[in-house]
Amino acid sequence: MKYHFILLLTLSFLGSGCLPDAENVNEYTETAPEVNREFIHEKFVFTAEDFEEQLTGLSIAAAEDPAGFLSIAARMLEMPPEYLFLVDKNHVLDSEFLPEDSVDLASYPELIRGRDGLILNRMAAEALVNLSEAAAAEGITLVISSAYRSYEYQQGLFSRFAEKDGEEATARYSARAGMSQHQLGTTVDFGDISNAFSESTAGIWMAENAGEYGWSLSYPQGLEAETGYAWESWHWRWIGTDAVSMQDEYFDGVQQRMMIFWDVNVPRLREAFVR
Ligand code: DAL
Ligand code: ZN
Repeated sequence: MKYHFILLLTLSFLGSGCLPDAENVNEYTETAPEVNREFIHEKFVFTAEDFEEQLTGLSIAAAEDPAGFLSIAARMLEMPPEYLFLVDKNHVLDSEFLPEDSVDLASYPELIRGRDGLILNRMAAEALVNLSEAAAAEGITLVISSAYRSYEYQQGLFSRFAEKDGEEATARYSARAGMSQHQLGTTVDFGDISNAFSESTAGIWMAENAGEYGWSLSYPQGLEAETGYAWESWHWRWIGTDAVSMQDEYFDGVQQRMMIFWDVNVPRLREAFVR
């Protein structure tokens, strides 16, 4: 009996020590900041405030549709990151960078190759087969003229052009080593590598349909100041259909704008991402 009494006393003492008294409860509820933990998308720990504060360079379209934007971003985060690397005059690939899982395009009889020795990453090659088959079904032939280029190959190419045209003029149409999307193994040049391609049936078909197969025009007309390169209607990068939707819905259809946004914000998006 005595033992029970002592236990009861101890418990009530502990209990009273743990609970705030009525006065403290009021103090607590009055001074605690109101925390809104309502997340705007099930896959991200972002509130509406976080979304605008923590992401840099959101377009108006993205700010107006955070849930739609984050749905696409979630799918892009599931892709191997190198498919969405920003590669331009300010974002240079290492000389050691090699595409993962490369395949010779000769293993795909559906593809029309302008020459031998054309290599691509397997995912890009399969996307190229889908693209070529869709074009062929409409009677259109897509001739593949260039695909993966190594760092060293690009270095030689730029030097040869520069001997002929001078460095400044060359840098408007040819990338220096490390600055070419061709090193990624996900980029292709079609046709005769001239802007006559834009007026050919193949070029017109590409401009209308390539996005559906995850292909994006890297250097559109009139955007040299942004992309660093003059218009290249023949140069297409495979970025996947989700990134094309992101580009089209939230970045005015401009790959470079979307890639810059992604490059700056992907670490924060990854931190907030819940698989
Ligand atoms: N012609 C593009 C810019 C390249 O060399 O990758
Ligand atoms: Zn190219």
